[in-house]
Amino acid sequence: MARLLITGGAGFIGSHTCVVLLQAGHNLLVLDDFSNSTPLALKRVSALAQLDSQSSQVRLQVRRGDIRDQAYLDALFSKAASEGAPIDAVIHFAGLKAVGESVREPLHYWDVNLTGSRCLLDAMNAHGCHTLVFSSSATLYGYPERVPIPETAPIQPINPYGHSKAAVEQLLQDLAASAANQWRIACLRYFNPVGAHPSGKIGEDPLGTPNNLFPFLSQVAVGRRESLQVFGGDWPTSDGTCIRDYIHVMDLAEGHQAALDCLLAEPTQLLTLNLGSGQGASVLEVVHAFERASGRQVPYDLVARRDGDAAITVADPALALQRLGWQTQRDLDDICRDGWAWQSANPAGYNDPG
Ligand code: NAD
Ligand code: UFG
Repeated sequence: MARLLITGGAGFIGSHTCVVLLQAGHNLLVLDDFSNSTPLALKRVSALAQLDSQSSQVRLQVRRGDIRDQAYLDALFSKAASEGAPIDAVIHFAGLKAVGESVREPLHYWDVNLTGSRCLLDAMNAHGCHTLVFSSSATLYGYPERVPIPETAPIQPINPYGHSKAAVEQLLQDLAASAANQWRIACLRYFNPVGAHPSGKIGEDPLGTPNNLFPFLSQVAVGRRESLQVFGGDWPTSDGTCIRDYIHVMDLAEGHQAALDCLLAEPTQLLTLNLGSGQGASVLEVVHAFERASGRQVPYDLVARRDGDAAITVADPALALQRLGWQTQRDLDDICRDGWAWQSANPAGYNDPG
């Protein structure tokens, strides 16, 4: 069993991954500044992993801090080593992810996503920790030239968020190519993470108006919003709406566990993998699947296309299967059932007593 530093572990994907890693027996140290999450998520993670208050203090430690604070990171690694429980590996979720906001605030995105990653890598290197799983994104592929998209497709991001993720991937490639390379790195390019833990206890809880389809339509179904706007009904697809590769967040969490196991078992390497299902679903197919799962109608209006959208984005997930033995186990109906379990039990997200 390993001692793992999980940056951004209170967030949507991080919290679900923490449950899987705790159940696999790992001890976790979560570092989060809670700029886009709440400590309550980790309380629920602890309950889901059936940790009592005593074991929680050892198995799920939580620190409030910023990944850009080099001195803080150094102290964190030093303290872990001095306590006889050095950090074996890092899963690095912390970052900013809203495409539109990144266009408005590019400096902030480069600072958190690139400078934050650089500070983390510096601290890891200084303290002899060279195993890293990094949250990358299918946004790197921009407007893909063909689908399904293999990892060898051109990297051509079209917004500052994507540029910052591409820059971190480049930095990681440079590290892996360095003369004294000791690094074991996995860059995981997520497609569209959605859904929730099947218990309905943890899920996605965006601040303000959701930018993404799934949380928006969940909030319409639960009555928090009136109707969904479907961006474009004239795309070159079977029903005219965009197609995406939606991946259940629990499949994604299990993908992290598989990547970590692979890194810890093998010599130095750089793995770059798509994490997706390989199946596309249109916006209207998602709406109808959610209506079936929730038993609620989701009113929607077809409106103009949104700037920056690609018609179809679907992963070629073959390499992840080959390298990790991992593939998605859950389909769109599972995603909608579990997403609805979360949203209906927590209409106001973590503000609900749950
Ligand atoms: P999230 O916002 O729910 O989680 C990110 C977490 O990082 C939050 O808890 C936030 O408080 C924390 N954080 C932000 N800045 C920080 C800082 N400077 N120091 C410490 N903590 C900080 O997002 P998520 O959906 O869980 O995404 C996790 C990672 O996956 C991100 O790096 C994101 O870019 C990437 N990703 C997400 C998606 C998606 O659609 N959700 C798709 C592809 C890639
Ligand atoms: N959509 C709507 N109405 C909405 C929101 C979205 O019709 O209110 C449509 C979009 O036009 C798109 C589809 O639903 O066709 C999915 O949109 P999302 O915003 O949910 O997701 P994206 O595919 O645009 O992007 C997401 C993340 C990116 C990430 C990418 C790939 O936002 O950060 O998945 O992982 F890079």
